[in-house]
Amino acid sequence: MPLSFDELIDDPSGRLATMMSAGRLYLSDSSHAALLRRVGDVIEEIPTARCPDKRWFQRSYGRSVTDEPEDLLVGDGLFYLTEQRKLFLDCTGGHYQMTWGYDHPELHALLLDGIERGIVWDNHSNIPSAPVKRLTEKLVELANPGRDLAELQDDPDSLNTVLAGTATGTVACGAAMKMMLMLHEADGAPVFVVLDGNYHGTDLFAQRLRGMWPEYFCNVEIVAVQPNAPDELEATFAEHGERVAGFWAEPVMMNREAIIVEPEYLHLARRLCDEHGALMAIDEIQTGFWVPEVIYSTRIGLEPDFIVLGKGMTAGFHPLSALVYRGKLDVLEQYDAISTNGNAALAAYMALGCIALIEREAGRIERVGAAWHQALVALAAEFDETLVEARGIGHMSALKFRDREECLAFHRTAVARGLWLRAHAYHEGHSTVLTKFALPLDEEVVAWTAGALRDLLRGKAWRA
Ligand SMILES: Cc1ncc(COP(=O)(O)O)c(C=O)c1O
Repeated sequence: MPLSFDELIDDPSGRLATMMSAGRLYLSDSSHAALLRRVGDVIEEIPTARCPDKRWFQRSYGRSVTDEPEDLLVGDGLFYLTEQRKLFLDCTGGHYQMTWGYDHPELHALLLDGIERGIVWDNHSNIPSAPVKRLTEKLVELANPGRDLAELQDDPDSLNTVLAGTATGTVACGAAMKMMLMLHEADGAPVFVVLDGNYHGTDLFAQRLRGMWPEYFCNVEIVAVQPNAPDELEATFAEHGERVAGFWAEPVMMNREAIIVEPEYLHLARRLCDEHGALMAIDEIQTGFWVPEVIYSTRIGLEPDFIVLGKGMTAGFHPLSALVYRGKLDVLEQYDAISTNGNAALAAYMALGCIALIEREAGRIERVGAAWHQALVALAAEFDETLVEARGIGHMSALKFRDREECLAFHRTAVARGLWLRAHAYHEGHSTVLTKFALPLDEEVVAWTAGALRDLLRGKAWRA
């Protein structure tokens, strides 16, 4: 018997398959204008079906079984339908990784093309295939705009080396953390200077950098500083001197209310790292592949020692991350930082496609991103009793609320309205609603979403 959806998903009647194809057709056959008119509605013309439930999930991932879960059924571009047939506008690009939204037609075609050509899905990293090798070259090119590749190859001070065999951001960040530790020479416990509210992954050391597990670590010191506080940063480097092994920053803090870390502040950190023999890591898991330059550091003329890339690199096809770093720091052995010892050739092919689309669409990405940010700036000014300011840049823009409860209530109302947004309001002082629109965002969706947020901000219902 051939493998079949009905068997695999336990859909013997074929009703779920029918529901999914009806949902797909609805999304692909409707214009943006038609979809926008119905965001938040239940699309009754799509048939219903029984869907598998989450009873085997971990509690924190929604193990509780509900009758009407709004889990994803199908997606197309910026829109998706839930299993309850409710239409959502995804304002977060999946969860910050679907660079080109759901099922981008060109990436869809590229995937099939790759399979047809015989690009394997994965293989041992000792025998990397063409897409992986080409991707490493492309990342070096992007990290060093305007420089000649042949000249870069002979320059160990340049960002000319790529660790490509990692699947997740956590593993790529971990590789940079290990190199910082291995290269640290000064006497005394190495110090990691990090930004308060940092998030560099989910393994133990990354979590230690954000304050967790202090009782299990010794001989390493973590100093968290506030972003954009240059005096504090200078005092920290002055106090710890050559013991500072590394400085870490996420340049747009998508894990802390979309705070922009000012380029001048990052350039100061670069200078302090150089003066004290410390290494600088810029975590671009969020910003990478979401700006027209592809790599945000190049946008602000910053050359860190490590650039961490991941998430959006393959536009969500498969987790694949990469660490771009200076050749002279290349001290890890082969098995020191790997994921399953593969390097995902087909995913690398998708990454090349994702990058090519960004390069092709750079002008539009810049223009529409600026329009979206500007729309939030205008809302912040119009509703200044409720909102503090707009934050972030371009597609990664956010609204900071004055009151945390109001922020949470607004977020709930927006989701009920069919706007899939994120809220950072679960920590003391945090009260921000975030977006990270996928790059197909256009002016029509910008105007519609700004209007929908304006209507919600005007209405008082969510304040109760
Ligand atoms: C800034 C940043 N660094 C690292 C990570 C970890 O990446 P991953 O979840 O792929 O391990 C994330 C994940 O969201 C992130 O936002």
